[in-house]
Amino acid sequence: MSEIAEINYGPLKALVGVWQGDKGMDIAPESDGTEENPYYETITITEGGDLTNGEEQVLSVVHYRRIVSRKSDDGVFHDETGYYMWDAENNVLMHSLNIPRAVSLLAGAALTTENYQNGNLNFELNAGIENKDWGIVQSPFMKAKALTKSYNQKLVVENGKLKYEETTMLNIYGREFEHTDINELVLQK
Ligand code: HEM
Repeated sequence: MSEIAEINYGPLKALVGVWQGDKGMDIAPESDGTEENPYYETITITEGGDLTNGEEQVLSVVHYRRIVSRKSDDGVFHDETGYYMWDAENNVLMHSLNIPRAVSLLAGAALTTENYQNGNLNFELNAGIENKDWGIVQSPFMKAKALTKSYNQKLVVENGKLKYEETTMLNIYGREFEHTDINELVLQK
């Protein structure tokens, strides 16, 4: 019987599962100031196998879908999908992120083994419009009216919890705005 080689998910293994959390806080822009939105969310992260690029680079992949609802009215107000990808040979982590505002990005970072040990994980990823490796793509409207300048994500998985902080720097309503989101989620059994 032939054996199927097991996929080496490395740091991505710690992400796989259904995560739920209700301690979210969103700080978002408004034309006349700032809105603060307490929220809950589900992030579903599934194994996506591996693939080869250019007959050379092997990436292992997990896919995610993130649905975020306002506590005040239970309405979904953020819907995000993408992949986390890991290049084992160079120990590089990448995160592609898409939101239906016509904004997409690819964030990345080099890891060391200190970023993932004993099933735990911590990392910080960046993307920016001036970043030549990790960029942001957005529609002409968004470029003109609600430009995403940079994105930073810090994420930790430890003891069955996933905590993140993310900062999206915007230029909107004629000013710079620090759009932030923070939450703590628990792995569902
Ligand atoms: C939990 C995560 C997030 C939540 C709950 C959230 C929520 C919001 C809210 C409530 C607004 C204001 C919308 C309005 O006034 O109509 C907003 C604006 C915006 N968000 Fe987010 N956001 C999240 C993450 C992100 C991320 C990751 C990005 C991009 C990388 C992003 C990009 C934008 C942009 C470009 C705007 C300006 C659009 C506008 O207000 O007209 N957001 N977001």
